Amino acid sequence: MATAKQDDYLLVAAIDFGTTYSGYAFSTRNDFTRDPTKAYLKQWVDPSSTMMYNKTSTCILFTKEKKFSKFGFEAEAKYLDLIIDDEYRDWYFFKRFKMSLYTLKSSDQNLVIEDETGKSMPALTVFSESIKYLKDSLVDECQKRHTSLKLNEIKWIVTVPAIWSDPAKTLMRSAAITVSIDSEMLTIALEPEAAALFVKHLPVEKKIDGKEGESFQTFAPGSKYIVVDAGGGTIDITAHEVLEDGTVKELLKATGGNWGGVAVDESYMKLIKCLIGDEVTKKIEKDPPSIFFEICRDFEIAKRTIKPDSDMKFTARIPSGLAEEYANVNVGKSMKTLKSVQIKSNHVVEVSFTGDKIRLASKNAEEFFADSIYKISEHLSELFKHESGREITTIILVGGYAESPVLINAIKAEFSHMRIIIPQEAAWSVLRGAVIFGHDPRIIKQRRSKFSYGIKV
Ligand SMILES: Nc1ncnc2c1ncn2[C@@H]1O[C@H](COP(=O)(O)OP(=O)(O)OP(=O)(O)O)[C@@H](O)[C@H]1O
Ligand SMILES: [Mg+2]
Repeated sequence: MATAKQDDYLLVAAIDFGTTYSGYAFSTRNDFTRDPTKAYLKQWVDPSSTMMYNKTSTCILFTKEKKFSKFGFEAEAKYLDLIIDDEYRDWYFFKRFKMSLYTLKSSDQNLVIEDETGKSMPALTVFSESIKYLKDSLVDECQKRHTSLKLNEIKWIVTVPAIWSDPAKTLMRSAAITVSIDSEMLTIALEPEAAALFVKHLPVEKKIDGKEGESFQTFAPGSKYIVVDAGGGTIDITAHEVLEDGTVKELLKATGGNWGGVAVDESYMKLIKCLIGDEVTKKIEKDPPSIFFEICRDFEIAKRTIKPDSDMKFTARIPSGLAEEYANVNVGKSMKTLKSVQIKSNHVVEVSFTGDKIRLASKNAEEFFADSIYKISEHLSELFKHESGREITTIILVGGYAESPVLINAIKAEFSHMRIIIPQEAAWSVLRGAVIFGHDPRIIKQRRSKFSYGIKV
């Protein structure tokens, strides 16, 4: 996989381009020798909550003239500003656009994707401008720390979901090359494989689950494990068998589906839309899109408070515009006097309101996860019945969604007979693992897929 040119690198730079969040990390050869899990991760500030994260939101904003404007949390904030000033219509705002490649079957370099208002731009431009932003920011940070570093001394790793089709992976590679990342210094790595590498190098005390010796057993020759990368868009699953020399071979072809964290958001949005009814929903979708935008953003914070069997009610902020739109359509009625919402013909959920918040029983909030968890569990059960999956003893759970106590609890309950390892900071495992992969690419020996995504795709 590695080319001769790559041998002379001084620094590995990794970009994790996620459905919901993206970020980058880097480490020098020296850093890696000292501690393979240590890498510099860029810190991003979300202006809406002033919280710091190791990844920023995957959003990109272009001007009316289709010129790049902003990426990440900043793009989100600026777009909200444009909505408030009613100037957003001519701008191009793309959010969660990575999923547009999920179903890409044939190589179509002319693929176009639609922004939030339905205007289209070439996918290659949207992806390459995003990578360019991350790359430029990365090079900036690198050169601040390593002043003598030259561009041709950087080895690049860009990660993609293992379940993506070859054309989708190729488009990502083209996007990186378009922004002057040297093709010979670039490797496209698979997200769950990178995450597994990180877990392998992690000291035991950094695993929330996993007892002493378990990590050693998991990566001992002959051992078989499955990696579940639970992200925003996809659940991406790969299984490995550890060979005598410590390298790994792919046991099962990568599988998974679009049952990631976004599916949980969609269940919540469904409840909100049932609550306000079709007419108000349509009106909001047409007119002030900031209302749904804010609801999503508030839920992103609120959903992290949902825990299994909690005796506390779930609360989430809802923008005042929602109740106002409701009252505009339903003259004389107030949304806040509603006591329940019918989600399905046989499913009614009790709701209440306090100040600017909606409240639900904890068990009803847990249900936002139900569909996604059901699909993940079903899928894993099927894989464990598969001839090559029967001897798998360990589940490695990573990705941002793997920080959810509801998901963790469900997987532990369903697969109680298996060893389950979840690293601390599961959300950044792909990023940290990608850096390790850059320094030590020999680890993956055999893949079942047609190609390896090293240098030639
Ligand atoms: N504590 C938590 N509880 C529930 N969901 C969470 C929690 N923390 C993060 N998430 C969810 O995890 C998802 C983000 O995970 P991650 O950063 O791994 O995804 P991604 O890399 O953007 O997506 P993908 O890998 O599918 O392209 C989001 O949907 C987020 O809401
Ligand atoms: Mg991811």
